[in-house]
Amino acid sequence: MAKKITIENIKFADCPSAASECIDRAKKLCIELEDGNILFFPTCPFDFPQQDIDFLLKQKQNKAKNRKNIAYKPNHDRLTNADVKTHEEMQRLIEVMKNFSQKSSTFLSKLLTPYGSKWVVDYASFRPFEEKGRKLRIRARNDLLHTDAFPSRPMHGNRILRFFMNINPSEGRKWMTSLSFQELVEKYGGTENLPFPSPINQKMAARLGKFFKKTAKNIGFPVSLRSPYDQFMLNLHHFLKENEDFQSKGPKDHWEFPPGSCWAVFTDSVTHAAMQGQYALEQTFILPRDGLISPEKAPISILERVVGWTMTDSSLAN
Ligand SMILES: [Fe+2]
Repeated sequence: MAKKITIENIKFADCPSAASECIDRAKKLCIELEDGNILFFPTCPFDFPQQDIDFLLKQKQNKAKNRKNIAYKPNHDRLTNADVKTHEEMQRLIEVMKNFSQKSSTFLSKLLTPYGSKWVVDYASFRPFEEKGRKLRIRARNDLLHTDAFPSRPMHGNRILRFFMNINPSEGRKWMTSLSFQELVEKYGGTENLPFPSPINQKMAARLGKFFKKTAKNIGFPVSLRSPYDQFMLNLHHFLKENEDFQSKGPKDHWEFPPGSCWAVFTDSVTHAAMQGQYALEQTFILPRDGLISPEKAPISILERVVGWTMTDSSLAN
């Protein structure tokens, strides 16, 4: 089960990142994350303007398609799913999301020095909807315990690290966490409803996949295909959300992240659910296996130890 590691009064200006005490501290924090714990910041650890928060709180998103979160893609400096009326509003929303993405990335690159040169800064999101009672199909619900897996963006063994900020001025964001990834695999992996992939089937699927990938590339649609690891992670995500027994009787810890607080966690290994809360910002980082302090603790390593064969195939990735 996850523990909360509170970090207060961090002052980076006093601590050049090359100093040995800073590197030691950074490594310790990375190890806490890799052990499945949550780094918690009672107040926002970087300067994020109140006028940016006020602007976000005014975004109602009533007509947003399927009520999806607003996503900011740093590589393209572009938003998806935003429901705004004017070009000026859109530009302002992009500016605010870019500011959050850049500031959170800069801060975490300093705090978690070993990761900063290895990770890819992925999408940021603004979550303007109340999570409690949100009407979503079961696999899209955030209030059911799960580990994260992206259906259309396979990770090929890379990790998903997420940094959250509760910008709600008056209400906490309520989470639950449950079993560690190792415990999930021991309890449910290889069962009828969550089988491990078969290496024989994988060989055939890989041959077909490579042919499909080559054809798609030739006609101008490059794709990244799921590895056996990605398929298992997606199956695990669905299995947990659809498992009523686990959702109702599984072990749970309850957390409340107060207004203005922030937290960081590897959401591909920490079983989590967002039970209640409205208005949160989030930045995702994709960290390769060789960027970890303890790669043997990563979900890919845990799974490969159990099945006894390599569950990724670089020729299926981009
Ligand atoms: Fe999640």
